[in-house]
Amino acid sequence: MTRYSERMKKIFVLGGTGFVGGHVCEKLVRAGWHVTVPTRRMVNAKPVQHLPGLTVLQLDVHNEAALARAMAGHDAVVNLVAILHGDAAAFDKTHVILPQKVQRACRTAAVQHLVHISALGANDERPGSAPSEYLRSKGRGEAVLLHPAEPHGALNITILRPSVIFGADDKFLNLFAKLQAVFPFMPLAGAAARFQPVWVEDVAEAVVRSLQMPRSAASPLILEACGPEIYTLQQLVQLAARLGGVNDGRGRPVIALPDWLGRLQARMMELAPGAPLMSRDNLDSMKVDNVATGTLPGLRALGIQPALLQPIAADYLSRGGKSHGLLGVRSRNRT
Ligand SMILES: NC(=O)c1ccc[n+]([C@@H]2O[C@H](COP(=O)([O-])OP(=O)(O)OC[C@H]3O[C@@H](n4cnc5c(N)ncnc54)[C@H](OP(=O)(O)O)[C@@H]3O)[C@@H](O)[C@H]2O)c1
Repeated sequence: MTRYSERMKKIFVLGGTGFVGGHVCEKLVRAGWHVTVPTRRMVNAKPVQHLPGLTVLQLDVHNEAALARAMAGHDAVVNLVAILHGDAAAFDKTHVILPQKVQRACRTAAVQHLVHISALGANDERPGSAPSEYLRSKGRGEAVLLHPAEPHGALNITILRPSVIFGADDKFLNLFAKLQAVFPFMPLAGAAARFQPVWVEDVAEAVVRSLQMPRSAASPLILEACGPEIYTLQQLVQLAARLGGVNDGRGRPVIALPDWLGRLQARMMELAPGAPLMSRDNLDSMKVDNVATGTLPGLRALGIQPALLQPIAADYLSRGGKSHGLLGVRSRNRT
């Protein structure tokens, strides 16, 4: 019989097809893991399906029995599934009920380690104190993992709370750069909100390193994943345009909207077809600063020196948001 230490370790990555998930999968395959990625639609797995040692599986992750069957034989699980927009029921299904199912499926499948990606501003002890439904549901999702109805057993749990995440294929700085390439000025809601942006590679590295931590380390472990600098949203929007070379590197005027006008703009965006650029719930999230509390360990506790935003964002914004590395192989082949 193959002993545990002699075989390739297997990991199941929910949300592995997304922005952060792609980088997590790339780091995991480089670190020698065999990775399984479930997806609702096979076509969504295009960014990662070419990674060596990665298997894509079409699965309804909300079906707990199917989830437990698919997880069998895996040593660890990462949960990156989340939504940014939706009604209270959708947030509850994705951010609270799903983590609960994932945790129970981990127990059924004898998985040893669960890494759950939450969000800075989520509060497992007082979920209701957060300003938006996104953050309240993220807090309730943490609470079901940290204070389960049945004991965890041998399951080791790590929760990462990132601030806003930037990286070559982000939908944040890239989007603001593209908007300002088209429009002569930028009306901005929530302009004064403060963030501590963190590089996607640092978040992915944190996932990999937390899996390597000895079992004796504290579990459950909650980490705040933040970069070294604090920016307002207005500063980030201005930087995106300047670093992206908009208007010969001068950027565009950014006009901070008063709250009432920002909410009206968000309401109009919610009514437009497709995922809104900004919803009223997103605006509610920005009522409190999205910066590290300092009361919980950060990336340095995992030996990660978080990267500065400007040199990295300048590189990818000037290239139109293309990835390097194994993920970049696909985007380079497409051009
Ligand atoms: N991006 C940021 O700035 C940021 C900041 C703080 C925290 N986070 C957290 O980091 C994690 C990853 O974020 P991300 O930006 O990589 O997200 P993303 O790109 O939107 O990816 C989310 C993934 O979840 C799956 N998914 C989405 N809705 C689902 C649903 N209703 N049911 C089942 N699966 C669903 C999708 O997989 P399929 O389509 O393949 O099924 C998708 O690949 C999330 O927990 C997010 O809250 C992100």
